[in-house]
Amino acid sequence: MEVKISPTYEALSKQAAEFVAELLNAKPNAVLGLATGSSPIGLYRELVRMHKDEGLDFSQVTTFNLDEYVGLPAEHPQSYHYFMYENLFKHINVPKEHIHIPSGTTKNYRAFCQWYENRIKECGGIDMQVLGIGSDGHIAFNEPTSSLASRTRLKTLARQTIEDNARFFDRAEEVPIYAITMGVGTILEARHLLLVANGENKADAVAKMIEGPVTSMITASALQLHPHAKVFIDDAAASKLTMREYYDWIQAKKPGAPRF
Ligand code: GLP
Repeated sequence: MEVKISPTYEALSKQAAEFVAELLNAKPNAVLGLATGSSPIGLYRELVRMHKDEGLDFSQVTTFNLDEYVGLPAEHPQSYHYFMYENLFKHINVPKEHIHIPSGTTKNYRAFCQWYENRIKECGGIDMQVLGIGSDGHIAFNEPTSSLASRTRLKTLARQTIEDNARFFDRAEEVPIYAITMGVGTILEARHLLLVANGENKADAVAKMIEGPVTSMITASALQLHPHAKVFIDDAAASKLTMREYYDWIQAKKPGAPRF
């Protein structure tokens, strides 16, 4: 795992966006996996800026989102459909028919999840998957004890996640308790992984993801099994790492080479 530590959220978002842009420049028809949550907002803001100021082109890009709450229609302000439209899609030129987000309102979840997995394959697999991390160490909605081989499926949310996300809803009881999520196994099949995390409340989860054992208790620790996982964090999120000096040293000495 490559660990890049920046002094600020803005700096880490910029670096992460440059990494995505590097892929799109090398492969204009790349398949991007996308995440929601507050963590990737800065990355999306920077991609939008690059699209507007530098002509970064999304016209051939295909996207797959990680997850969606069950029961929320696309137009619900807390749905991940709405989030993606507001924070990214409405500002860039990705064609509507290239966008995939799990349905929170399908009548047949099992069939939908199978279709989603097949669709990823039909599109050639995900070139780069953007990820955040939950305070309990989850990626997407793969809560503690999710199988590290799991595929896209219906998942019951952990109490901690419901409490964390309650801040976005008027009342805690409104937070859905189920979600459709890509599995850890699905995520690990992406060719590159890019995880962003900031703030002190992520420091524990980040340390366990990078330095702890690989365990389904911290599903983000599965990134250790991936050959091309890159983690962009700020000083606060890095504050519980024991090997900080080593990561800084490696980054400073790393020879520049084309990555795609
Ligand atoms: C949710 C999402 C995750 C996200 C996490 C952290 O649980 N399903 O994909 O990483 O929240 O969100 P935030 O970035 O707002 O801390």
